[in-house]
Amino acid sequence: MDKIIVKGGHALKGTIPISGAKNATLPALAATLLTGERIHLSNIPHLKDVTTMLELLGQHGSAITVDERLGVEIDNSGVNNFRAPYDLVRTMRASILVMGPLVARHGMAEISLPGGCAIGSRPVNLHIDGLRAMGAEITLDEGYIRARADRLHGAHIILNPVTVTGTENLLMAATLAKGRTILENAAREPEVTDLAIFLNKMGARIQGLGSSILVIDGVDELHGTEHRIIPDRIETATFMVAAAVTGGDILLTDTDPEALETPIQIMREAGMAVELPEPGRIRVHVPDALRPVDLETCPYPGFPTDLQAQMLVLNSLARGTSRITETVFENRFMHVSELQRLGADIRVHGNIAEVHGVDHLLGAPVMATDLRASASLVLAGLAARGATTISRVYHIDRGYERIEEKLQALGADIQRTTS
Ligand code: UD1
Repeated sequence: MDKIIVKGGHALKGTIPISGAKNATLPALAATLLTGERIHLSNIPHLKDVTTMLELLGQHGSAITVDERLGVEIDNSGVNNFRAPYDLVRTMRASILVMGPLVARHGMAEISLPGGCAIGSRPVNLHIDGLRAMGAEITLDEGYIRARADRLHGAHIILNPVTVTGTENLLMAATLAKGRTILENAAREPEVTDLAIFLNKMGARIQGLGSSILVIDGVDELHGTEHRIIPDRIETATFMVAAAVTGGDILLTDTDPEALETPIQIMREAGMAVELPEPGRIRVHVPDALRPVDLETCPYPGFPTDLQAQMLVLNSLARGTSRITETVFENRFMHVSELQRLGADIRVHGNIAEVHGVDHLLGAPVMATDLRASASLVLAGLAARGATTISRVYHIDRGYERIEEKLQALGADIQRTTS
């Protein structure tokens, strides 16, 4: 199994381009199932989760052409299999995103229940309840969600708690439903808005983009189009923290600072200099010692839970005490015990992590537990004295494109070993 070995202590320096957003790519790929006409998607990141979604589409009968440079072309005129099997869904929960499009266009879907997840119970009840409100008949048997509908109809749906993929699933389904659907308390993440823009290019009639109330007037069919995926705000912020914890100075290109308003504000409070020299670019350096910052994870536009683990590393190296409160997912502090192995002083009380900054971290063998947790271990390794060996790095390949190559280009001593 692959391992990543990081030898810390090198200040990151240089310029690095940011990839397309994983969490915008996955729903966009699922949305192609809403039409039999050709779709072209560009700025697709090379990630394990994207490959999994392409594999799933392939199983449904999609014809897919991948061009490393130009993107992905998808022709769904031959879709004839409506089952998302356990083997694929268990490796990626976002597979559930094919449910809405399949039911809306083909009247049926059989999706394996995602099952256990390292960051809490993560149910999909709101996806199911929403489709039921739109007229789908849904049963749960043999570990599968079986959904049927002649034609979905519009409904007024209130999502509580706010859910990203739940909003996306119902948004996609509503585009082909008869009549008007209102999604209240909809997720406002930039990836949801990117999906809505893409769907409108396909001929959907969605209003309220970027707000918590999405109004969708169903149409009879959608058509082919082209779309460029937005930059990955989580990858961007992860590199920003990497620069900060190594005392580096980096320039990120092909990104979008507007999607990172809250994290940038928090990073500035932490003593990071974040400059926006021109559109799509962010320069980060650290003029003085890092300062501890308190934060609470929240749905967008709040501070993203997908950056919580990275901020724990930053706070671990700041002078003083801070508190990070996780409000989105239960059980999302598993990386704390690994960070403690590197010398971080973090105490977890329920959903609050109390962090006491230390002078330095020391390299050690650690294990990745989930996608964002594994990014935090890389960050900690970059900052630590000595070598950190991270095992179970398949988690990181799900969400970060060529992370060791990008970090090497910035001067990091990081290698992947295969054994
Ligand atoms: C998405 C992101 C993930 C991010 C998360 C929160 C993708 C592919 N993944 O995950 O990276 O960490 O948003 O920003 O976009 N919930 C329910 N019932 C449901 C659905 C969700 O109770 O039917 C709860 C969850 O348990 C959780 C909260 O809602 O506590 C938010 O989860 P959700 O927004 O659905 O996360 P994902 O869409 O799975």
